[in-house]
Amino acid sequence: MQITLNSPLDMHLHLRDEAMLQIVAPLSAHSFAAAIVMPNLVPPVTSIEAVKAYKERIITAIGEEHFTPLMTLFFQDNYDYDFLKEAKKQITAIKLYPAGITTNSEGGVSGIDSESLKMTLDAMSRLDIPLLIHGESNGFVMDREKEFVPVYEELAQNFPDLTIIMEHITTKASVEALNRHKNLYATITLHHLLITLDDVAGGMLEPHLFCKPIAKRPEDREALLDAALQAHPKVMFGSDSAPHPQHAKESCGCAAGVFTAPIALPVLAELFASHNKLENLQAFVSDNAQKIYNFTPEKKNVVLEDKPSLVPAIYDTVVPMYAGKEIGWSITSVS
Ligand code: DOR
Ligand code: ZN
Repeated sequence: MQITLNSPLDMHLHLRDEAMLQIVAPLSAHSFAAAIVMPNLVPPVTSIEAVKAYKERIITAIGEEHFTPLMTLFFQDNYDYDFLKEAKKQITAIKLYPAGITTNSEGGVSGIDSESLKMTLDAMSRLDIPLLIHGESNGFVMDREKEFVPVYEELAQNFPDLTIIMEHITTKASVEALNRHKNLYATITLHHLLITLDDVAGGMLEPHLFCKPIAKRPEDREALLDAALQAHPKVMFGSDSAPHPQHAKESCGCAAGVFTAPIALPVLAELFASHNKLENLQAFVSDNAQKIYNFTPEKKNVVLEDKPSLVPAIYDTVVPMYAGKEIGWSITSVS
């Protein structure tokens, strides 16, 4: 069996900076045509100069690969219309983190509602800049995403012309919310289609599967899988591939993030094929995102085949998901 994907897109990606950027950027750039690059560096990317400089560093790191980094700003509630009008020339979206909710989000927003974020959200809406949200409350870890759904809904209602993307959804409740508001969309990761909390903590603790939001219940995974396999028009693939050095994962106080960039496309192909839904993979990994973001990526054809391949145990300092294991599919050519 084989499939050719046209311009696969990763609509949520962490490329980091410095040494880590050099390791991971070429891996995504090899098999994806473009990716939405997260701004949670230290310090976060909050100025137009910082966006431009980061984009330059990414382009240098990817070398010869044909790949477009779609840049984002880290949301601040003091971005005004004039600033965003200028910023729009450099960015594709803005990412909002609740303060302290995950890796490098200390500079995020506390108190997310239409009234306190009005100036910036009005401007984004007028300028047609999508708002990407890490949607978790600071409640009990398994309930954080569900508790955030009313916040998404309040924003969606009060800013009906703003494109709001619920990033890396992990629950049935989020899938259901998608259908209630025309301006709500979502990204889904690879790992949340595959694992539940049992895989993280049901046996020996598995630090390489620990991430935020944490993997949930079987019924949640089923709801995500249904949405992805039918290529629900409001969902897109976003890996949330989030590399951390091995020592930061295999340690007391394990960093959150699963590194999936190099295995994402073969494992997605294997998953869709195993459900006889390979014909929907193109929409999930590219076409839906092109429509939602209203853009046309550069052409890149990625051929995948059901030939087994071995996942490296480590990429320099980063351990990937399925390290050292055999997966059923491989990338056989990229052009
Ligand atoms: O697990 C995660 N890791 N979730 C996030 O939201 C951030 C990410 C990271 O940057 O490491
Ligand atoms: Zn992320």
